[in-house]
Parts: sequence; C-alpha cells; structure tokens
Amino acid sequence: MSSASPKSGLETPEPMQADHINEEFAWEVEAGLTASPKRLSSKYFYDSKGSALFAQIMDLPEYYLTDAELEILKEQSPAIMDRLGIYRETPFELVELGAGDGVKTIELLKHLEAGDYRYRYVPIDISQQALNQLEKNIRAALPNKQIQPKKGDYFKKLGELSDSDTPKVVLFLGSNLGNMKDDRAHGFIKSLADNLAPGDKLLLGTDLMKDASIVLPAYNDSQGVTRDFNLNLLERINRELGADFDLDAFTHAPEYDEKEGITKSYLRSEKDQEVSIRAIGKTIPFQRHEKIHTEISRKYNDAILEDICRGTGMKVIGKFTDHRDYFADYVLEKA
Ligand code: AVJ
Repeated sequence: MSSASPKSGLETPEPMQADHINEEFAWEVEAGLTASPKRLSSKYFYDSKGSALFAQIMDLPEYYLTDAELEILKEQSPAIMDRLGIYRETPFELVELGAGDGVKTIELLKHLEAGDYRYRYVPIDISQQALNQLEKNIRAALPNKQIQPKKGDYFKKLGELSDSDTPKVVLFLGSNLGNMKDDRAHGFIKSLADNLAPGDKLLLGTDLMKDASIVLPAYNDSQGVTRDFNLNLLERINRELGADFDLDAFTHAPEYDEKEGITKSYLRSEKDQEVSIRAIGKTIPFQRHEKIHTEISRKYNDAILEDICRGTGMKVIGKFTDHRDYFADYVLEKA
C-alpha cells in the first residue's frame, strides 16, 4: 500500500550520503523546521522517487488537472495557435519551462507537425532526468522531430535565447505556477516578461477555483499516492541529511479553502516527538498534531490572474478551458 512506511520500522536505516550534502537543502530544512509554524519547500519534492510519484499522481482518477489540460491541447490546438498569432509560415521558438514528461506538450507538437509549422522546440528543465524522459517520449511519438533541450535555470536559459529576432511562445503548463504565492507568481511573470520581446506570448496552464468536493480528493487520493509524495519529503531528509523521521508518526493532511482557492498540504505529527537531523546538528521537537506546511496549490480565476499580471508587462489576451471548466490555458502577451 504505502511505499513510504515500510522503510521506517524494521529495515536498517539508509546511510547518509555525507560526501555531498546539499548545503542549500540543509539550510532550508533548518530554517523551515525551526520556524513557527514549521514549513518545508515543495521544490524538494522532486528527487527521483518524488518525480516518479508525481508521474503516478498525474495518472490518478482524482487528479483531474492532467486530463483537463490534455483535453484542451488535444481539441483546441488550432484555436490556441491562432490566438498565439502563429501561422504556418511564421518561424517561431517554442520554449517550455519545466516540461516534465512532455505528454501534454506532445498533443500540441502533433498538431504543429501535421500542419508543417516552422518552429524550434526548446524544453528547459533543471532536471536532466526529466529532459531524458521527455526526449524518449518525443522520440516515440514524433520520431522525426529534432528538439533542443536545455538544462538549467529557466530565466538564464531564456535570457540566452532572447537575442534572436524570432518570435517566442513560452509554455508553462500543468498549473506549476500554483506552487507560488501570488507575489512570487507576479515576480515570476515579470522576470519572464523581462526576457521576452514585445509580441512574444505565454501559454499558461492554471487550475481553476471550484468546489472542495472536486479539488480536495485530487490532493488526497484513495490510493495514498499523494500521501507518499508528501511523506517522501521526510524520507528525503532522512536519506540526504541523516535524519530519523519516523514516517509512521506523520500523516498527510491537505486542506482547501473554497473562498481563498488555495490547497495547502501539511504533514501532521501524530504524537509529541523529537527528530534529530545530523547534517544540521539539531533535534527538532514536534507537538502532537503540530503541522509542517509543505505546499500550496493555488486555484485561479480571471480576476486573480489579472491581479497577478498587473505591472508585469504581460497581459491576458485569451483563455481556453476544458468542457467541465476545471482548468484553463491562458494566453498572455508581452506588451
Ligand atoms: C505540479 C505543482 C501542479 O500542485 O497540483 C500534485 C503538484 N502536489 N499533488 C499541484 C502536486 C500534490 C502539482 N503541481
């Protein structure tokens, strides 16, 4: 059932990989677990185990986000290209930030291939593993397509591309923006705009605000995959920072406030306990039912997105939704 819990009890603990402690990870864990309330950053979910669990999440029946965006790209790619102002004879750069496995993007690429569009596909990701998987999937679906993957920081790589006069379309799909608080999302879109030329476009995937009865199960699935995904953060701290988190003593506890439109994920301590973390030389006390905040997943509407975009140099000029109105791909233009 759980792939997280069997590791805790009977087996010998895995040794800390002390030769290359990730300093930034150690520092952020220390800052987050000595703060009140306690927090850990969701960016650390995606080690190899976490990435595999996220791939499983995308296949869950409750995780409607993937299917909804897949439907949009499958059925509305012609209209999307039209709104992006890209026609067959216009050469353009298609730059994707955090492409993941590329399954959704392939739907758009299929349309571009069938229509003989002239474009370069440049997926950018900080994970080489993600890029390898993406290349494999593209090769299987579109054997003749050459791609130019770039590994590294989004904005650095985007900046390197910004010299060319070729129009750009940036893809940021999957509601990845939702992991950022609104002020950070604003800063992100502003940095993006700073690396684009007037007329360049952004296709932005966003999960929409809706009933908790739909949203919450997507973050609390019946098979417990999302629980394992969240708990993997503690497992990762055990592995990489030499901690002794008892994974059976913490539970996955997501919340969704319909009015605010933000899913918040927590790990809740089920008892009074202490956890020692060798890499930071500290013991962290937990009270029974004390929570560690691990992730936000923001849900949007037009007004929220427009607020976030104000003053960034990007303007919303189009919106494509699935048939249930669960998800939207917005088109934004750099002024
Ligand atoms: C990859 C950020 C879009 O917030 O929905 C899935 C990550 N977390 N289940 C999301 C996630 C828990 C996901 N994003």
